[in-house]
Amino acid sequence: MTERLSQLSRSIEGRVAIITGAASGMGRATAHLFADEGAHVAVTDLGTDRVAAVVEEITAAGGSAHGWAFDVTDGARAQEVVAQVIDTFGQLDIIVNNAGIALFSAIDSPEYEDNWATSIDVLLTAHTRLIRAALPALRQSDSARIVNIASTEGWGATKYNSPYVAAKHGVIGLTKGLAVDLGREGITVNCICPGPILTGLTEDISEQGREIFAKRRTAIGRYGIPEEVAHGTLNFCLPASRYMTGAVLPVDGGLLIKNA
Ligand code: NAI
Repeated sequence: MTERLSQLSRSIEGRVAIITGAASGMGRATAHLFADEGAHVAVTDLGTDRVAAVVEEITAAGGSAHGWAFDVTDGARAQEVVAQVIDTFGQLDIIVNNAGIALFSAIDSPEYEDNWATSIDVLLTAHTRLIRAALPALRQSDSARIVNIASTEGWGATKYNSPYVAAKHGVIGLTKGLAVDLGREGITVNCICPGPILTGLTEDISEQGREIFAKRRTAIGRYGIPEEVAHGTLNFCLPASRYMTGAVLPVDGGLLIKNA
């Protein structure tokens, strides 16, 4: 019999993943996908009931999940959640920094400073807090993976969105910086740049507005669904993906490459 040439694992079965903002949109889709793939999922988000609902969905579907109410701006809570996840599942292999908000404001608006502070805190500084809390455990894993969810706003900009744009550019920088710092330890750090995806963040845009935008701006010609982004995230988390680090992956229906 011919020896198989493919030896690296494409399975996250038995791995333990913390996903932030997992009660909605892409976080929820990622939690479902990872559980479907046999991982133990720590579902975290604001609001105990919202978290419990997703845990219930996953367990009803035969997956392994446990929930934690976790505001990502709370560094002390990040430490607690990591410790409790390890108590519950025995290890920690994967962090998906996904939680997010979108606060639009012009530079001269009265709310700008507040929006700036909140955006940087939730979308960027929070990632560093959770990663710092998780690092000792990740160092024990033989397949440690960090995935940060940035945005196509990490490459370009939409009008009046500069706090978000700055934070998402920062996420890409943080990803590259930590990829360099942690590479020798076998901990990979990558980031995903979703384009227009139908989630809680975009549900207020009218259907017609979404359709016009997607047809004009994307190659695929429609909004994406959260699960399509979750598959990009999963790919970075596979043991086989161990030589991918510092990568910035658009999952955007071709938005970034489309000129006209
Ligand atoms: P979503 O609104 O459906 O989910 C975001 C989740 O983050 C919510 O459940 C929310 O409760 C949670 N969250 C907000 N602040 C939090 C905090 N302080 N602590 C813990 N959890 C918090 O939105 P979506 O779209 O699934 O967002 C996921 C990520 O994707 C975000 O980082 C967002 O910036 C990014 N993104 C979204 C795009 C889209 O078109 N929907 C495009 C590009 C990036």
